Amino acid sequence: MKLKSQKAIFKIPKDVVYLNTASFSPAFNAIEEAGIQAVLDKNRPDLITVDSFFKPINELRSLFAELIESDDMDRVVNIPSVSYGLANVANNVCLKSTDEILIIDEQFPSNYYIWKKLTDQYGARLKIIEPPKTKSNKGKKWNKILLDSINENTALVAMGHVHWSNGTLFDLKEIRRKTQEFNSLLIIDGSQSVGALPFSVKELAPDALIAAGYKWLFGPYGSAIAYYGPYFDNGNPIEENWINRVNSERFSELTTYQSEYKPKAQRYSVGESSSLIYNQMRVAALQQVIEWQPQRIQEYCRETTATFVNQMRALGCHIEQDDCRSHHMFGVGFPENFDIEKLKIKLEKEKVNVSFRGAFMRVSCHVFNTKEDFEVLLECVKYAMQ
Ligand SMILES: Cc1ncc(COP(=O)(O)O)c(C=O)c1O
Repeated sequence: MKLKSQKAIFKIPKDVVYLNTASFSPAFNAIEEAGIQAVLDKNRPDLITVDSFFKPINELRSLFAELIESDDMDRVVNIPSVSYGLANVANNVCLKSTDEILIIDEQFPSNYYIWKKLTDQYGARLKIIEPPKTKSNKGKKWNKILLDSINENTALVAMGHVHWSNGTLFDLKEIRRKTQEFNSLLIIDGSQSVGALPFSVKELAPDALIAAGYKWLFGPYGSAIAYYGPYFDNGNPIEENWINRVNSERFSELTTYQSEYKPKAQRYSVGESSSLIYNQMRVAALQQVIEWQPQRIQEYCRETTATFVNQMRALGCHIEQDDCRSHHMFGVGFPENFDIEKLKIKLEKEKVNVSFRGAFMRVSCHVFNTKEDFEVLLECVKYAMQ
């Protein structure tokens, strides 16, 4: 069944047009309630039990595993940021000087600096896959350039499922096939996709999938999440904390120090991963996202934005071909001589919230947005063109 507008469970003011979930998602009622209850619980530390440390976080891990179609919540861990999750990856990668790490052009900085540092450290090469110069069929051609660049020197490919500033969709199935052919690691930053675009570990088998929590997963800022595949099972985490070791549930025996970590990826969870307030909110958020279903979110956004996209193209703006981009987030390129400053002033006046990233106006959509929101945005663009 198709999703209907979910505006009623959000508290976005009537005069605000919020088209910026790619930056921060708003809360909906269940998240707000879970957060307030968790803050109130802070008054009663006497009620904190051993379960408080394990139950919500395990529920969160299990829900995220379900969302990404993994059978194994022991591969899902709580991390505070994407950069933290990627640092765990880099900590377990050794390179030869002939090795290459492939990233996409203008990738988010947290998914650039770490690879720059690692390749510098080993005298290896950071290869940046630039888009084709043409506008027509850009997404398809960009994917082809990337696929053609994966070869016996490729140690690792680190990229998003979609480009974070323009929504270009990358064909992870083909990229996984090619990386497997050359034994290269595939590390996915799902920050701008997981939750809103279907992702299946069963189908794509990434070596790691890392996602910020405060965008399409509706969590608070400071709550990211990661999946680490078997490559990382016996690796080195970037920090050592008590809760990731076996028997950490036995509070009276914590100084019977353990040399063993909990199984599989659990060694990579950040210290204090039980984060009592955040996890309650994140559980409420994920339950709803799973109920909505990413495929239905895409469909909702596609229908909500279709007329706007056509009208923008008719005005001479460039939006990537529909089958080569996501529908929850896409970039708009403006014609030459377009007055972006005039548009920004108008958007502020009309309380329309979007992002400007690189050469694009990044528009993002969710189930609280309506066609009317996009009509307001269209009018602002038309005004700036006058
Ligand atoms: C693609 C992408 N990755 C990662 C992040 C956040 O990275 P970090 O958690 O290191 O701040 C963002 C934030 O906008 C993003 O768009």
